[in-house]
Amino acid sequence: MTTVRIDPPGLTTTRAPFIEEAQQQGQLYIAQPYELYSPANHDAWRRLYARMREPWARYANPRFLQGLDTLQLAPDRVPRLEEVNQFMEPRTGFRTKAVSGYVPAFLFFDRLRNREFPTTITIRDGASLDYLPEPDIFHDIAGHVPMHTDQAFAETLVRFGDCAHLAAEIVAGIDDEAEQLRRVDSMVRAMARFFWFTIEFGLMRVPGQGLRVYGSGLLSSFGEIAHSLESPAVQRYPFQLEWVINQSFEIHHYQPLLFYVESFEQLFEQVGELEAWMRAGKLDHVAPGEPALNELDLKSFLQGATDG
Ligand SMILES: [Fe+2]
Repeated sequence: MTTVRIDPPGLTTTRAPFIEEAQQQGQLYIAQPYELYSPANHDAWRRLYARMREPWARYANPRFLQGLDTLQLAPDRVPRLEEVNQFMEPRTGFRTKAVSGYVPAFLFFDRLRNREFPTTITIRDGASLDYLPEPDIFHDIAGHVPMHTDQAFAETLVRFGDCAHLAAEIVAGIDDEAEQLRRVDSMVRAMARFFWFTIEFGLMRVPGQGLRVYGSGLLSSFGEIAHSLESPAVQRYPFQLEWVINQSFEIHHYQPLLFYVESFEQLFEQVGELEAWMRAGKLDHVAPGEPALNELDLKSFLQGATDG
């Protein structure tokens, strides 16, 4: 006699009925239905976490490693967002907020301004731990959230939110709809590039250690974290605002160009500079190219302007 084992659907990326239902009902902000995680989901987390320990110890910024300690993430099961928040909120006021899927750009930055981090709750299929075009809870919680325990880093995220509000205010003052869209497209492209080359793929020069990783895209990638610091195929330059806002990027392969900062205080100042440039109209004509912004992202800014 053979027995057929049927895995429960669980909360696997792109195959979670709970998420599909929430999306169909238009619910963006949801609860984390913890009991729905399947044994295979917890096992995927355990394996992802276990194999990152050594590269984290070698390549991660010390603030990230302190953040991991602070959050006390369980190595062997998917974390509960409530538990993460208990450890994080007393440090910087940041909380994770479960979402059912893509959060349009203005709403995303607006959440950051309110010290909330929209967090994906599904986890990648254990059969393919490496490549995943969508964010998942490992990227969001193990890659992003430990940095949110650092004060200067947390303030940097909040300042991004201020920038988004400034962009919305600026376009609200423009009468012509085509010009509104063109301007918001340019300003948001500049913000998205800045975010990509810092929060997602940033490097930092650490005294006595050399270059270390703080970007979450690198911290959650087993293959790319070592590549980012060791490979001769990667160009690594000091962060330069005028370069970064005009630099396109592609998401589906290892990054050939990375930028490093000296501290999170510097990063915070640079977002302030971004905001000043936006106010001065210096982000109104950034170079074309990736990322391509979708209509939802752009409309979210026009809507944000209406909502104040
Ligand atoms: Fe991310």
